Amino acid sequence: MLIFNTQNELVSHLTSISNAAAPIGFVPTMGALHQGHLSLLKEALLHNTTVVISIFVNPTQFNNAEDLAKYPRTLEADIEKVKSVSDKIIVFAPSVDDIYEGNTVSKHFDFDGLEHQMEGQFRPGHFDGVGTIVKRLFEIVKPTNAYFGEKDFQQLQIIKKMVEKLKIPVNIIGCPIFRETNGLAMSSRNERLSAEEKEQAAIIFKTLTQAKTLFETKTADEVSAFVAETFKKQPGFELEYFTIADEATLQPCHTKKETEKYRAFIAVFVNNVRLIDTISLN
Ligand code: PAF
Repeated sequence: MLIFNTQNELVSHLTSISNAAAPIGFVPTMGALHQGHLSLLKEALLHNTTVVISIFVNPTQFNNAEDLAKYPRTLEADIEKVKSVSDKIIVFAPSVDDIYEGNTVSKHFDFDGLEHQMEGQFRPGHFDGVGTIVKRLFEIVKPTNAYFGEKDFQQLQIIKKMVEKLKIPVNIIGCPIFRETNGLAMSSRNERLSAEEKEQAAIIFKTLTQAKTLFETKTADEVSAFVAETFKKQPGFELEYFTIADEATLQPCHTKKETEKYRAFIAVFVNNVRLIDTISLN
């Protein structure tokens, strides 16, 4: 299995095997891999000749130093998991210096307003950090197809917007959320939850599912009030936001329109671990 720790080594390898007709599939990650990431790799293997996964905890997308310090780093276990899918997958695990070359700052992006809602509101600078690293990784890997999980649906829409605005020649492919048997969306952050907290966190998806049913007959405000009440009664849980938004523009829904597609978005702290989830409503 090939593992590269510098962009120069990866680029020279990809150049040596390059063939314009052979697609490269790319799965960018921050490691602490779970079944959701592995499903992206499996999807990439089905449609590409070469598959690259990056494992890089990107400091510029963290607005909270403690969150960055506590982010799980499990490179050896991650490599074993990638190997279990296929030893033909190329792992790119660079250092911060190799990527940022001594200037660990974000570029500023205009994502036509998608960046101001939800995660953008509660994590200032987060999407500039995501745009900076994803653009940089695309320049290094030059993928034909890049795969992202729909759990980070706002991120997915923002990356599609960046690619469209900057005319980056890559297909962005969104893949379904992978869930634990109790419904909890798989996330690298789940590693920071105890077994009991993981069980309790099933309430997040359960509430989203109830919100979906309620939205058939109630307004967005009424559904939001129901969700706020649910989490108020839940010790150890703190709701950061629950928003029903237009899936394309991410603008909050005030008056339901039959022709629009809506999605609910949620961020919840479970004893200091921040979890997000989302569900399509119609
Ligand atoms: O979704 C993630 O894991 C990260 O935001 C990404 C896309 C790998 C960029 O660091």
